[in-house]
Amino acid sequence: MSFDAVTAEWLKQSTQRVDAAIAHSFKDMSVSAQGLKEAMVYAATGGGKRIRPLLTYATASLKGQTLDQVPGIDACAVALELFHTYSLVHDDMPSMDNDDLRRGRATVHKAYDEATALLVGDALQTMAFDLIANSAMSDPQKVKAMATLSKSGGLEGMAGGQAIDLESVGKPLTKDSLENMHRLKTGALLRASVRMGGIAIELKEQDLAQLDQFASSLGLLFQVVDDNLDQVSDSQTLGKTAGKDAAANKPTFVSLMGLSGAQAFAKELHQEAIDSLSVWGDNAHLLKSIANKVLHREN
Ligand code: IPE
Ligand code: IPE
Ligand code: MG
Ligand code: MG
Ligand code: MG
Repeated sequence: MSFDAVTAEWLKQSTQRVDAAIAHSFKDMSVSAQGLKEAMVYAATGGGKRIRPLLTYATASLKGQTLDQVPGIDACAVALELFHTYSLVHDDMPSMDNDDLRRGRATVHKAYDEATALLVGDALQTMAFDLIANSAMSDPQKVKAMATLSKSGGLEGMAGGQAIDLESVGKPLTKDSLENMHRLKTGALLRASVRMGGIAIELKEQDLAQLDQFASSLGLLFQVVDDNLDQVSDSQTLGKTAGKDAAANKPTFVSLMGLSGAQAFAKELHQEAIDSLSVWGDNAHLLKSIANKVLHREN
């Protein structure tokens, strides 16, 4: 197999790995609220690119171990995906972006109802921390992973970014404030995905800080590409409603600098991400392939 084919196979198998781990994490939960559990499973399975778990797995591969040799790695990967899924379920609700379509299917509040969607988000979020708490990592690793995830999802991360997004509707933002919003609402969780992979293989703080430069460029790139796709793609390809940002008057890099400016900015950020991996040499080939996937993705 060529080098590219080996990487493509790794991405495919790792996606299947996290899908199986997600399904498994719901399997033995004995609950009275079967309706809520069904809606959580609906939200968490049946689609999604699984970019955050892939980043965690790729980072955990930096020292050359296989994933089976890294205790707790699946718990971290699943926790990140469940946390992300919670953010999508809430993002789609009528009080936020009011979307009907997600991952090619009805959004949770449409397939079920609003109260269920709210509770699905709540329960997925706490389930993420429960998985880490009960993982095979050491106690200090668990604390670091939980601190990383909670910080990335809160006021100084995703939730803060979502609040700025909502209060900025119809307002022209400067490049700096738009960048800040993107780094918070989407970048923070992607940075946490890389960091948690590093925590699982006990990288030193200095290495984690180095990798954070990559994750930070990638995180911003991810939302810039999301905004570009919203403008140029169609709902069928995206699996979510296209053209939503302009219709809702959201400030995006497309609205700030035009489509070609935003596309050029994405290329710049991608290069920045790749450059920051140079110190890792060939070991970083999986992270590099994920950065390429993020730049060239079609959904
Ligand atoms: C969409 O995230 C929301 C953003 C943070 C831009 P993804 O593009 O990762 O969505 P899925 O998980 O693949 O559906
Ligand atoms: C969402 O950004 C970021 C989240 C924290 C979920 P968007 O609102 O642009 O995400 P999509 O386009 O609905 O997936
Ligand atoms: Mg939104
Ligand atoms: Mg949205
Ligand atoms: Mg979007």
